[in-house]
Amino acid sequence: MTNFSSITSDKKYLASSLPEELDPLRIPEHIAVIMDGNGRWAKARGLTRARGHIAGVDALKTTLRLCSDWGVGALTVYAFSTENWSRPGEEVSFLMTLFQRVLKRELEALQMQKVRIKFLGDLDQLPSKLQDLINDATKLTANNTGIHFNVCTNYGGRRELVKVAKRLAERSISGDLDPSLIDENVFSAELLTANDVDPDLLIRTSGERRLSNFLLWQLAYAEIHVTETLWPDFDKDSLFQALLDYQSRRRRFGGLEQIGSANANT
Ligand code: IPE
Ligand code: IPE
Ligand code: MG
Repeated sequence: MTNFSSITSDKKYLASSLPEELDPLRIPEHIAVIMDGNGRWAKARGLTRARGHIAGVDALKTTLRLCSDWGVGALTVYAFSTENWSRPGEEVSFLMTLFQRVLKRELEALQMQKVRIKFLGDLDQLPSKLQDLINDATKLTANNTGIHFNVCTNYGGRRELVKVAKRLAERSISGDLDPSLIDENVFSAELLTANDVDPDLLIRTSGERRLSNFLLWQLAYAEIHVTETLWPDFDKDSLFQALLDYQSRRRRFGGLEQIGSANANT
């Protein structure tokens, strides 16, 4: 029934070169994606929502490969939010099984591509088999030198911020930290994304114009690209359009100067 085709068998893969319309010097260092619209994609085809999620995995594989080929340093995707537990149990357990099967199946290919994978969120609430796979994948790829691939799983922005507050309070009480020294750097060093720069670009598919509790701190100055395209249909041209849109922006970071480059934030 389910086609869990593998990219490990895709031996003929050739790296995709950057489209000439894009400036290689202004590729975002970090892209965040709210992969939305799997259910609507399936519904429009008379398929189950599960089929939409399966199709979404292929779009993610394509996006990761392209980001890696085009020089993006980090890709952070929203796979499952703290709010997604409120979906029917059947869909939640399908998603957990899908994450397990895909991670198991793709690990070798991720390793070959030198991807460093991390899972961000409250992982201890995930099924224990999935937790084991996550631990193995994280350890195996920890020293890889390629793209940083962060999969937000049971992730919520508010929960992340509350945890940081708690941790800083605990460190202050234990005498490890002087509370008067807490500033934005000290705070952000406790975030799940501590080792990556903040995303330069946020892509949300399926036309929804909201953050849905994603990376609330980290997206403070991200450029936002919303596309009507449903996630399973997000392809090379969709990513190209998102980057073209990004490169047309003038990032001012609160200043007045017209900065000439979308990436020039110094
Ligand atoms: C996004 O697609 C995937 C997850 C939240 C896991 P949806 O499942 O939200 O698809 P729509 O929004 O119902 O179309
Ligand atoms: C956001 O999509 C979460 C993920 C993509 C994992 P949702 O479909 O859950 O967001 P809402 O409910 O439309 O805000
Ligand atoms: Mg949705």
